[in-house]
Amino acid sequence: MSVEELVQAALRARENALAPYSNFKVGAALETAGGKVFTGCNVENATYGLTVCAERVALWKAISEGERKFQRMVVATATEHPGTPCGACRQLMWEFCGDIEVILANPQGFRENHRLSNLYPRPFDEKSL
Ligand code: THU
Repeated sequence: MSVEELVQAALRARENALAPYSNFKVGAALETAGGKVFTGCNVENATYGLTVCAERVALWKAISEGERKFQRMVVATATEHPGTPCGACRQLMWEFCGDIEVILANPQGFRENHRLSNLYPRPFDEKSL
């Protein structure tokens, strides 16, 4: 799948975001090493604190379907300069995906490529134990 197709999947997932409290909609599309795509959106609830980010929804969907190896994740917001994943998501992406490519995108055509190791340097992981 092309990066642009993965971006479109993340943008479509963003439309399903359940974000009545922040009104900040996020979509994610996670591509496995084998080329399958799992999407996610942020899901908020009345306690606020139990909110789950789009990245983690995509990750949990993929892991719960037995996937273990990943190559890319697109994170889509509608901001002028799309935001990077939060710290909690970076930790989990690092532990479960390794040094994947992270592409930030918005509906206006902004695209920016990162390696997770650049977004999350010197992580704590199983090697730290
Ligand atoms: N959010 C994500 O889904 N992913 C991010 O990378 C950053 C933040 C969500 C959580 C919450 O629903 C809303 O965006 C505002 O923080």
